[in-house]
Amino acid sequence: MERRKDWYEHPEYYEAIFGTDTVREADFLQELSRRFGTGGNQWLEPACGAGRLVEEAASRGLKVAGYDLSEAMLAHARKRLSPTERRRVKLSQARMEDFFDPALEGRVDLAHTLVSTFRYLDSEKAAVEHLTGTRRLLKPDGIYVLGFHLTDYARSGPEHERWVGQVGADKVVCNTHEGLPEQRLRRSPMRNRLRVTGPDKDWLIETTWFFRTYDEAQVKRLFRKSGLRVAATFDFDYDLDSPVGRGSPRLDRVFVLKRDTPSKA
Ligand SMILES: C[S@@+](CC[C@H](N)C(=O)[O-])C[C@H]1O[C@@H](n2cnc3c(N)ncnc32)[C@H](O)[C@@H]1O
Repeated sequence: MERRKDWYEHPEYYEAIFGTDTVREADFLQELSRRFGTGGNQWLEPACGAGRLVEEAASRGLKVAGYDLSEAMLAHARKRLSPTERRRVKLSQARMEDFFDPALEGRVDLAHTLVSTFRYLDSEKAAVEHLTGTRRLLKPDGIYVLGFHLTDYARSGPEHERWVGQVGADKVVCNTHEGLPEQRLRRSPMRNRLRVTGPDKDWLIETTWFFRTYDEAQVKRLFRKSGLRVAATFDFDYDLDSPVGRGSPRLDRVFVLKRDTPSKA
């Protein structure tokens, strides 16, 4: 078995696991935009990764700006676009903490960051910078859709999820572990293992990192501080008819955020 590091250096295997919900997520985002936003056609995806949602949105005729830290993920995103889609897409290498594009200022109808990616921002300062920076790009009635897991600090055991995918002849088994949250440091230790086996391959790609933690009160304070208000909350079922009610025990949240002072840039 060959050991490798960093799943984002292996976009095709990452997407074999996390690309399965793409059409449903894009349907959900479009409907959120119609109900809570402008329904307009300029989208932005911070930390767009290997571009599954960028491609899906562009294939629906939307204009998409996407950026990511990882050049390997962006290269995969560029490669997958058809010539027509490419004309609607602008990709760049940038960080969530300080991305800014003057051409997008006040012009974005919908921004979205799903699958807990927001939790990579490892301090309150970084999170506020990201949110205020994204807010500045939104149209007055635009929305920012942010999906991530809240943390139960009273949890007594680690959490584990397992998925299986396929890339050609290669089988991919993915195990993700979230260790116990360290409440004082506001972080949880994370570990992902992708085991890839095929005719010429036996790889173990192991990645470890920390995710920042938020409970309900912490996330509400953060949004307020960043000049954003919550227009609606859903969960990872992406069911528009089942918004998450106050005090729900579910920790997977999709927040639909709007500028709290719509007329100011
Ligand atoms: C879980 S993937 C999500 C990718 C994509 N949004 C999707 O839904 O498939 C997380 C992505 O965040 C990127 N990332 C992590 N920290 C980042 C940061 N500080 N700024 C920009 N991108 C970041 C990684 O390179 C990776 O591509």
